[in-house]
Amino acid sequence: MLDEVRKVAVIGAGMMGHGIAQVFAMRGYEVNLLDISEDILRKAMQNIEWSLGKFVEKKRIRREDADAALSRIKPTISYEAGVGNVDLVIEAVPEKMDLKKKIFSTVDKIAPPHAILVSNTSTLSISEMGEATSRPDKVAGMHWFNPPQLMNLIEVVKGDKTSQETIDKIIALSKALGKTPILCKKDARGFIVNRVLGQVFNEAFWAYHRGEASMEGIDASIKYTGGFPMGWFELCDFVGLDIAYEVGNVLYQAYGERFKPCSEVIEPLVKQGKLGQKAGGGFYDWSKGRPRIRFELSDEYDVERSWAVAVNEAAWLIQEDVADPESIDTGMKLGTAWPMGPCEYADKKGIDIVIQKLEELYKRFGMEMYSPCPLLKEYLTNRWLGKKTGRGFYQY
Ligand SMILES: NC(=O)c1ccc[n+]([C@@H]2O[C@H](COP(=O)([O-])OP(=O)(O)OC[C@H]3O[C@@H](n4cnc5c(N)ncnc54)[C@H](O)[C@@H]3O)[C@@H](O)[C@H]2O)c1
Repeated sequence: MLDEVRKVAVIGAGMMGHGIAQVFAMRGYEVNLLDISEDILRKAMQNIEWSLGKFVEKKRIRREDADAALSRIKPTISYEAGVGNVDLVIEAVPEKMDLKKKIFSTVDKIAPPHAILVSNTSTLSISEMGEATSRPDKVAGMHWFNPPQLMNLIEVVKGDKTSQETIDKIIALSKALGKTPILCKKDARGFIVNRVLGQVFNEAFWAYHRGEASMEGIDASIKYTGGFPMGWFELCDFVGLDIAYEVGNVLYQAYGERFKPCSEVIEPLVKQGKLGQKAGGGFYDWSKGRPRIRFELSDEYDVERSWAVAVNEAAWLIQEDVADPESIDTGMKLGTAWPMGPCEYADKKGIDIVIQKLEELYKRFGMEMYSPCPLLKEYLTNRWLGKKTGRGFYQY
């Protein structure tokens, strides 16, 4: 455990909040779990109990440790009781800026002055939430992945006024929880993982929309030829089409044409309520479990196209000083189980080859997502082409 943080509050006991509370409790922290009704809290506690039971069943923890973890979580609907004497507050309420700002402002007035306040937001501005408080230096992003009990990655996000001390504490805390933190050095929309993922989704959606490959053909190629754990459409169903759609729009607003979304593919499904796995159907029918993707279709789509746009977005992240190559690669491997990070891939393949692929696609389709990032061009000029020249994203 980290000395400075002993007691935490998690606000919002939904899909993410209950899991985050459980992770802290399993590591010995006292947790206050806040929501708006007793009924929601009861369900959250039942979910935690069920999940702890699974850990016991799989012999990952002992029954008495599970019981002790559960007893460390105190559900409450009172902000005074919830955040009055904690060292850290984690906000995990729905993705609405007005609501989050209201909560940050309330918490700021009640929590002790030393307490750090973090948000689990996937897309919204940490700096804006910080401005709703009198302690923006102690406000940061702590973006967990779903389900928090099993996913090891945490994106730690620095807002405009977040102090280095706060960032250091959240990084140390993430490690103390057994997680791997990656640092997002700027409060840039989509942070790291969703930005790279947003590009490969867009590339696949546009390819499908143009009739270049079938949905299943793209997924078969990604899975069986590319060695990714899921195809992009299947993964999008898993994430939730409403979430992917919303993130796609936020990225488009933030970065413009490079993130032009293919609304024709996703919007109609969102409007029909076909939100993916959680709704029993999205791109695929999930009513009978995970869709079966046919192996025979695994050469319908050129997987190098996904890699090319992923590498390009990684280059933008580095050029804008949002993230280092190590953080990007770790993020994609732990956050989405990619077989390799985009920077590692580019260095192995050759950065010149990746640029060629991007230029070929740009010539064919004229879309900004294929326009090579200036940083890649700079690497080409310097002959930093990857492993073969001893220097690329990494030094060899
Ligand atoms: N679901 C994911 O896969 C995922 C992954 C990473 C990050 N996130 C982010 O985590 C946050 C929460 O997402 P979620 O999927 O857990 O949402 P959710 O809808 O499952 O849970 C949100 C909870 O917040 C509660 N809540 C609403 N207003 C509140 C208030 N004023 N005070 C206290 N509690 C309140 C709700 O009752 C609900 O239980 C969002 O910002 C989301 O973007 C989600």
